[in-house]
Amino acid sequence: MTMHKDPSKKYRPFPPVQLPDRRWPDRVLTAAPRWCSVDLRDGNQALAVPMNVSQKLELFQTLVNIGFKEIEVGFPSASNTEFTFNRRLIEEKRAPDDVWLQVLVQAREDLIERTIQSLVGAKKVIIHMYNSTSPAQRRVVFGKSKEEIKAIAVNGARMIKDRLHRLAGTEIMLQYSPESFSATEVEYAKEISEAVMDVWQPTPEHKMILNLPDTVEVAMPNVYADQIEWMCRNIKNRDSLVVSLHTHNDRYTGVAATELGLLAGADRVEGTLFGNGERTGNLDIITVALNLYMHGISPRLDFSDLNGIIEVYERCTGMTVPPRQPYAGELVFTAFSGSHQDAIKKGLGEWAGRTREHWDVPYLTIDPADIGREYSEVIRVNSQSGKGGVAYLLESEYGIDLPKDMQREFGPIANDAVDRLGREVSGAELKAMFWKEYIERTAPWKLGAFRTISENGKVHCDATVFKNDQPHHVTGTGNGPLAALVHGLSGAGVAFEITGYSEHALSAGEGAAAIAYIQIKTAEGKSCWGAAVDTNIELASVKAVLSALNRL
Ligand code: KIV
Ligand code: ZN
Repeated sequence: MTMHKDPSKKYRPFPPVQLPDRRWPDRVLTAAPRWCSVDLRDGNQALAVPMNVSQKLELFQTLVNIGFKEIEVGFPSASNTEFTFNRRLIEEKRAPDDVWLQVLVQAREDLIERTIQSLVGAKKVIIHMYNSTSPAQRRVVFGKSKEEIKAIAVNGARMIKDRLHRLAGTEIMLQYSPESFSATEVEYAKEISEAVMDVWQPTPEHKMILNLPDTVEVAMPNVYADQIEWMCRNIKNRDSLVVSLHTHNDRYTGVAATELGLLAGADRVEGTLFGNGERTGNLDIITVALNLYMHGISPRLDFSDLNGIIEVYERCTGMTVPPRQPYAGELVFTAFSGSHQDAIKKGLGEWAGRTREHWDVPYLTIDPADIGREYSEVIRVNSQSGKGGVAYLLESEYGIDLPKDMQREFGPIANDAVDRLGREVSGAELKAMFWKEYIERTAPWKLGAFRTISENGKVHCDATVFKNDQPHHVTGTGNGPLAALVHGLSGAGVAFEITGYSEHALSAGEGAAAIAYIQIKTAEGKSCWGAAVDTNIELASVKAVLSALNRL
């Protein structure tokens, strides 16, 4: 089988919702929604090896630490592990007083019964009942009419309501999901939801959650937004409902669908960390939360230690966070191309100098440090990197602050070497390249000894320099030691001038040494840089001159 030349013979477009006066496109988000993590249920049921109780407990604690106030902890009627986990959370009082434990259940009596048993003694619970409503589910899975499917929901709602007295002392919120909502006719989704509302009788003071899932993405996110706005505008007693979104990623647009769904009037969002979940996964809550954050809106979830969260998540679920996952991926704060590196370096410099009120660093939508990522991760060097990346690494890792002109000279030298290696290089490797190119250049010229005396504002130098291991005695005069050396060497037939100079102390790790950078220009107009390290800054400069001569 291959792809069809005319796919319209096999597939058909999704019918749009009739909502010509849709309002969501003109809205903006100004506050975070209520969040509900479904990591321990929708995420867990989609794992090759589902989490055991201790892994679920650890992930639960992490979700609490992040700040989730509503956590779907499982499907207690589905297995002993799920039931036991729920009981442990309740009996060991693991949920803080302000955290709601949410449990999922189908509209079936035996399952509802077991679910109620699993909740006895809890402080705050959300009982989440669902049944599937789309035409394909009605026809293929249930073989039932719309009325019969509605009866399943209504009977399930009654069975739950009839048992609530057994949870005396527990604060209860009820939630209904017409599963496969986004593939369901909106009029029917409204009808069945209202039938459940008739049983549960929510009020503005005691609302119920109406979760409208994009169980399988079947259309573009604007269509989901239309469906949500249509429901919000047409369903009765909207003020007695918390409208909730629950998106998946079959078309890779779970985040977009959620954001547009919020514009369309929803109040609450369900999702998982890093988008774990059935098939292509659930909504990645971290991305939506940090997307709000980058617009200056507090998500009321704390991802300050994203690396720590990744570590727990990967260990508990056995999943890995892809390297390009927004915000969390290993590579998302890494620039490989030179132009990106230069721009980031300038932007970070501007931010460090606080010359702008708000974050506006090219290529970085947020400050990596806010989520526990390190600036050192921002720039790495490969053969595509420019001088900016090379200079940044030398500076940030070793305090080697190359003059701008010298960056232009060393950048291509480093790039050639990286190209030959055919891989990314570390700061240590770059430093070794720099040392080899400049500091360890001791042939043909090498310093033997260097002495100066000052007299009447003039400096006289008396030096021994080796050329190809042959000693030369050099004397010269100038208004500083370097000028005296240049004068002395010109007497020995080496004519050049100094056109660039810079020096600074090296970090403590380098033995309290100083580094000097010298640019020379010969009478023939040839120009190059040299560099040298010494505990004596005067000697570092003299050696840097010889390093430059050695590189001509
Ligand atoms: O994706 C879905 O529809 C679900 C429901 C149970 C809410 O996970
Ligand atoms: Zn789901």
